[in-house]
Amino acid sequence: MAILSRIIWHYDSSGLQAKKYFGSLYEPILHCVKDPKNYVFNSDSIKVEAKTGAKRKLIDYRKAVPTQYSSTKVPGNVWYFPRVRYRMAEYENHPSQKPESLLNRMILASSHEGSLILDPFAGTFTCGAVAKQLGRLSISIESQDTYVDIGLRRVFGWSEYKGKILSPPAKNYQPKPKKTNNNSEFIQGSFF
Ligand SMILES: C[S@@+](CC[C@H](N)C(=O)[O-])C[C@H]1O[C@@H](n2cnc3c(N)ncnc32)[C@H](O)[C@@H]1O
Repeated sequence: MAILSRIIWHYDSSGLQAKKYFGSLYEPILHCVKDPKNYVFNSDSIKVEAKTGAKRKLIDYRKAVPTQYSSTKVPGNVWYFPRVRYRMAEYENHPSQKPESLLNRMILASSHEGSLILDPFAGTFTCGAVAKQLGRLSISIESQDTYVDIGLRRVFGWSEYKGKILSPPAKNYQPKPKKTNNNSEFIQGSFF
C-alpha cells in the first residue's frame, strides 16, 4: 500500500468553542492505494474552478503560443467543506457526522458506477448514502444500534425496523435545502 496524498479537510468552525487552546478546524485524511502503478482516479469528475483561468483570465506567456490558463483543475490537498450543522437537511444526531460533499469527492474520484465501497465505521452511514446517490454499491459496518437505525433509513429508505419507527431528527423549522458542493478547493484508493 502507498500513501498518495496527505489531505487536510478544513472546516469553518470547531464544534466546541475552545477558550484555552487553539480549536481544531481540520481533520487529516490519507489517500492510499494498494498499487501506485494501477489505481482509479477520475480527475474529470472532481475538477474545481481554477481561479487564474476562470476568473482572472490570465495568459500563460511561457507557452510557445501564449494561451489562457485552464479554467478547471484537480483540487489540491487542502479541502474546504462546511461541517454538518443542525440546520442542514442532511443533519443526523451523531457527534462526528461527515458532510456528504466530502464523501462525494472521495467516492467520485476513486470508484466507478457499480463499484463496491466499504465503510467499516459507518456512523450515520454518510458513505453508504452518498455511494447510493452516485450509483455505487456499499457495505457499511456500525457497532451502535442507534446509528444502524439511521443507516437503514438513510440508505434503504426504511421507515420502520423491528417495530421501531425510523424518523429523521425532529426540527422546529424548515432545514436549509441540500447543496451539491463539489466545487470547493479542498476527498483505486482508500481514505483514512
Ligand atoms: C467517526 S464515526 C463515523 C462517522 C461517519 N463517517 C458519518 O459520516 O457519520 C465512527 C463510528 O464507528 C463506530 N465504531 C467504533 N468502533 C467500531 C467497531 N469496532 N465496529 C463497528 N463500528 C465501530 C462508532 O460507533 C461511530 O459511530
